[in-house]
Amino acid sequence: MSRIKLLPETLASQVAAGEVVERPASVVKELVENSIDAGARAIEVGIQRGGMSRIRVVDDGCGMDRDDALLSLERHATSKIASAADLAAISTLGFRGEALPSIASVSRFRLSTREPGAVAGTEILVNGGRIETVRDGGEAPGTQIEVRSLFYNVPARRKFLRSETTEARNIEHQFFLQALAHPEIGFTLVREDNIASQLPITTSLRDRIRDLYGAKLLDDLLEISLRDRRGVQVQGWIGRAGVSRQTRAQQFVDARLTAESSPPPCAKVITPLSCAVNFRLRFCSLIWIHVK
Ligand SMILES: Nc1ncnc2c1ncn2[C@@H]1O[C@H](COP(=O)(O)OP(=O)(O)O)[C@@H](O)[C@H]1O
Ligand SMILES: [Mg+2]
Repeated sequence: MSRIKLLPETLASQVAAGEVVERPASVVKELVENSIDAGARAIEVGIQRGGMSRIRVVDDGCGMDRDDALLSLERHATSKIASAADLAAISTLGFRGEALPSIASVSRFRLSTREPGAVAGTEILVNGGRIETVRDGGEAPGTQIEVRSLFYNVPARRKFLRSETTEARNIEHQFFLQALAHPEIGFTLVREDNIASQLPITTSLRDRIRDLYGAKLLDDLLEISLRDRRGVQVQGWIGRAGVSRQTRAQQFVDARLTAESSPPPCAKVITPLSCAVNFRLRFCSLIWIHVK
């Protein structure tokens, strides 16, 4: 008798979820990245009990029609690449098409989405990977995703979650990283129905850092702005020697290497860059850098 079996789809998604969804903060990361890829100008993240009870991400991005909303829950369904050639020029944050089905397979999941100009939106309810309801929805244009009872059907994973406070802190850290990477997007974090952080749209990383950490911190930062012969740009703010924060170290390097910079500058640029960063890191723990 044959011993090899094809896994049922839901089980395959739960297995994939093991890689994509480690904890509530990884759900927030995936959902916020999708909102950014959808061209959102405003993103709201709401959490309850460290994200274990509920995570909600609301955006005003491009939304989806009903067919796409259903497809987005299938594994390997993505709007971001269509051919191997697209891989070389990828500019989105995701492209594997695994996040939504993975998250939906290990939670009670609700997707509500509407394209701007569409008469009605779509609401889909999924329970542990099984689609239970598909109906018209009436929310504002954009996408709303709600993830409740994360890992309710995978007790072994739930056991590995830390305290509510720790998980909330991980989410907050993830939220800040995304907000620092995208000052052009307005971000709101709501914890247990109270606004914990509200960051208006700004035009510069400097203003975003000020809104997040206060104007006083800016005095302790040095701006760096470099461009090499091949057009690779390194921009950002680093802490002056000796400056660090009591709280968790803030290190943020956003490497966006464009297709024009070929041959890929990764090894050549990133290695010296990370050496510089690491060198700096011995003296300070505040770094925000964009590489373009
Ligand atoms: N917030 C969103 N707004 C609009 N479309 C979305 C949103 N989230 C997901 N999608 C669509 O669903 C698809 C699947 O999402 P995901 O599973 O995260 O895979 P990936 O991001 O790797 O493509 C995306 O390619 C995108 O087309
Ligand atoms: Mg994604």
